[in-house]
Amino acid sequence: MSNTSANRNPAGDSAGQQVVVTGGAGFIGSHLTERLLADGWRVVVIDDLSTGSLANLAAVANHPGLEIICSKLSTCARLGEIGAGSAFIFHLAAAVGVELILKEPLAAIQTNLRETEAILEAASRSGTPLLLTSTSEVYGKSPKLWLEETDDLIIGQPHLSRWAYSCSKLMDEFLAFAHARTRHLPVTVVRLFNTAGPRQTGRHGMVLPRFVAAALEGQPIRIFGDGTQTRCFCHVADTVEALLRLQRLPAARGEIFNIGGDEELSMSALAERVVATLSSKSVIQYIPYQDAYPAGFEEMPRRRPSTAKLERITGFRPGRRLGEIIVDVAEWLRPGRGAG
Ligand SMILES: NC(=O)c1ccc[n+]([C@@H]2O[C@H](COP(=O)([O-])OP(=O)(O)OC[C@H]3O[C@@H](n4cnc5c(N)ncnc54)[C@H](O)[C@@H]3O)[C@@H](O)[C@H]2O)c1
Repeated sequence: MSNTSANRNPAGDSAGQQVVVTGGAGFIGSHLTERLLADGWRVVVIDDLSTGSLANLAAVANHPGLEIICSKLSTCARLGEIGAGSAFIFHLAAAVGVELILKEPLAAIQTNLRETEAILEAASRSGTPLLLTSTSEVYGKSPKLWLEETDDLIIGQPHLSRWAYSCSKLMDEFLAFAHARTRHLPVTVVRLFNTAGPRQTGRHGMVLPRFVAAALEGQPIRIFGDGTQTRCFCHVADTVEALLRLQRLPAARGEIFNIGGDEELSMSALAERVVATLSSKSVIQYIPYQDAYPAGFEEMPRRRPSTAKLERITGFRPGRRLGEIIVDVAEWLRPGRGAG
């Protein structure tokens, strides 16, 4: 461990200290970066802009506390130095989502393994505490109504690329805990459930921006499957609040936490809410899975987080309801606004 770690403030007070946000030009990372800067941190964003964009950081582009490094983590020559000079690392960079993995299975798996290994190696050398963003996808086919951090995980077969996202992110979790055990790295793992808000793109199949964009254009809202599958959505600002509370808590090190919304609703109900909230004329269409995905695609009928552990240790509960998420996404997607 380098002597820089001795100077770290475990309570997570900013006081002009430096933090790293990998994937900081992405959807969640850019909101996290803005909030950290507002709280007085200096922030180093490392992002290869593969799915992220500098436009996401436009509001803080000239902030004196922000440094942006456009690079993969694995090829960033300054990774070790930056990790050692930082009080905390938020690791969000990843090939995100099942659709991206279906399109580019090999590159996406390699990204999720290699890039995480690179940042864990750098963090372990300096002993810099790291928070890894994993995903609810790791719960796989679990039939449980409330998914809890201590549950066993039920993943599908390896010849179905669909499961490669879950498995690569799960392997990231194993890597993080192996670094914790063998190299005493303070790690926190969070499993994010559906997160939504401004700057999330529908390009890789994310459902809420897809539905909202269709509703704004009066185009059909396309639901894959019969629409009975349920999800819970969390506003990105709430997700960021939960991440920051965990950063501040030494008791969160070595632990896994679900972060997600508490309003469960079916995809049919979501489409209806989007249409009603935006007074849209869109009709709702149902597309059979076999027409939307490769043969053998498996979908989870429901995915609902237990956030009892998170609430117990941080006091966090999501504050923003679904209607607010829909309005915020629509505001961002409207022509002439952020999404352009
Ligand atoms: N959005 C969600 O609902 C959700 C749900 C579960 C988990 N997550 C996790 O949250 C994190 C952030 O996801 P997001 O929704 O903001 O996605 P995103 O695609 O907007 O963000 C990922 C960022 O990582 C960057 N990146 C990708 N590969 C990189 C590399 N090799 N080196 C440097 N940067 C790289 C991308 O350019 C992008 O800016 C991811 O780890 C993802 O797995 C998100």
